[in-house]
Amino acid sequence: MRQPLVVGNWKMNGRVGEAEELAGAIAAAEIDWEHCGAGICPPFPLIDRVAKAVSDSPVAWGAQNLHAEDAGAFTGEVHGPLLKDLGCTYVIVGHSERREYFGETSEQVAAKFFAAKRNGLVPILCVGETEAERDAGKAESVVREQVQAVVGDGKEDAFRDAVIAYEPVWAIGTGRTATPEQAQEMHALIRGLVKQGHPVTGQSMKILYGGSMKAASAPELMAQEDIDGGLIGGASLKADEFVGILRAAVASDL
Ligand code: PGA
Repeated sequence: MRQPLVVGNWKMNGRVGEAEELAGAIAAAEIDWEHCGAGICPPFPLIDRVAKAVSDSPVAWGAQNLHAEDAGAFTGEVHGPLLKDLGCTYVIVGHSERREYFGETSEQVAAKFFAAKRNGLVPILCVGETEAERDAGKAESVVREQVQAVVGDGKEDAFRDAVIAYEPVWAIGTGRTATPEQAQEMHALIRGLVKQGHPVTGQSMKILYGGSMKAASAPELMAQEDIDGGLIGGASLKADEFVGILRAAVASDL
């Protein structure tokens, strides 16, 4: 049985005071933590503040990006060893906003994925098709390519201790959630791909849904066989919404 996981992706939001307040409220919420894991991924400079705010709770923290190298002359970038020092558990890689606005290729995303693993961080690999790709009947092939870019020759058990988030680009920040059936179909495809080379990992790995998930839509999504939680953008910035999603995750595990 896979324990559900809910991770907040704050994106480029939050000032110091707000971040401490929000993280503190989530850490203090009454949640049955035996049935759900939680993580918060704030902007880099807020990681340490969030860590302190949640340190007495089971809430973990992480980053939204990292560089593929472990050190060097890469002005403005952040390396995996530093994230590890800051106690990060998770790091998001390949978010569609990074692919689209910062030109990250699947190859670069794969390098970041392995940089995370090399540094003992759990990568949350984001995959998902655009609306045009879905309309053209290419959703499955796009997601397959994004997963296979990381799998490489398939010899390595790449997704062991990793998480995948299926985030259809047309659902991110649009208020338009994928239907539970649409999401389940893609989650099953992803799990099947991982299972091909590594059945145990494919069965046990968590696959999160992301894209306008809210407390109200979470229960139906999380009731799907292959949906193990959520990667939450907008709704992670409101304590009551995020806690509502965490409670839906707990309920899906009972
Ligand atoms: P959203 O974002 O929940 O605001 O749609 C999800 C994400 O981009 O990770």
